[in-house]
Amino acid sequence: MRVKHPTRAPLPVAPGEPLLELADIKVSYGGIKALKGVSLTVNCQEIVALIGANGAGKTTTLKSIARLLPLSSGTLRFGGKDIASLSTEALVAAGVALVPEGRAIFPNLTVRENLELGAYLHRDATTMRETIDDVTQLFPRLGERMKQEGGTLSGGEQQMLAIGRAMMARPALLLLDEPSLGIAPKLVQQIFEAITKIAAAGVTILLVEQNTRIALKTSHRAYVLRTGEIAIEGRSADLAQNAEIQAAYLGG
Ligand SMILES: Nc1ncnc2c1ncn2[C@@H]1O[C@H](COP(=O)(O)OP(=O)(O)O)[C@@H](O)[C@H]1O
Ligand SMILES: [Mg+2]
Repeated sequence: MRVKHPTRAPLPVAPGEPLLELADIKVSYGGIKALKGVSLTVNCQEIVALIGANGAGKTTTLKSIARLLPLSSGTLRFGGKDIASLSTEALVAAGVALVPEGRAIFPNLTVRENLELGAYLHRDATTMRETIDDVTQLFPRLGERMKQEGGTLSGGEQQMLAIGRAMMARPALLLLDEPSLGIAPKLVQQIFEAITKIAAAGVTILLVEQNTRIALKTSHRAYVLRTGEIAIEGRSADLAQNAEIQAAYLGG
């Protein structure tokens, strides 16, 4: 199965060049410093994992990138351009889509309606049909349930719908916040197969996960976040062998 055209957003940089660059990002909630100077780079067409314990600041990092939270300081670049002052809408138009933690689909809308809402930048009938075809190729279970209300899907199917909806925006960069959270192992497998296919079709991915094992298996490189700071970074295959990571995140 091949995904023909999951992204129409022209790539802002060549494959292998830095696509997303965070430099010394600091973010606070009131007086609480959630990010204490996070720097990371995601190269074009890479899968990069951001792992770490509950409360480490993973969601805060993704929300900061998606312009849902203000930065206290630091710089944020996408395709070499400063995006810190862009609105979330402008960022989607530039080619960045977020799949939020907890999925956040519309429970009373059908699968098709949820997908169509993700395509608000590409509403012409042909593009809409082609993009929905791409998404149902990625997730055949969604294709079988187009008229079903989102709220009646299983957790794993809702996660597929949330990823599908983000793909409707034809992003160059997909931000995924814990796609495995609370989902049956069999569907986790299918979701990660789809993530691998999305990447193979040329979409760059920043993957946030508490499931360290699957995150390191799926990604090229990874960063470990610990209480708002990057503690370890490296090639995912190396980190999977790292004694400290095995003890802290892979159950010895
Ligand atoms: N809306 C909020 N208000 C206050 N503190 C928050 C808020 N959201 C997150 N935090 C705090 O920021 C820190 C990082 O949280 P978060 O980014 O959600 O971590 P993770 O996604 O890695 O579990 C935690 O200490 C958390 O309690
Ligand atoms: Mg989180």
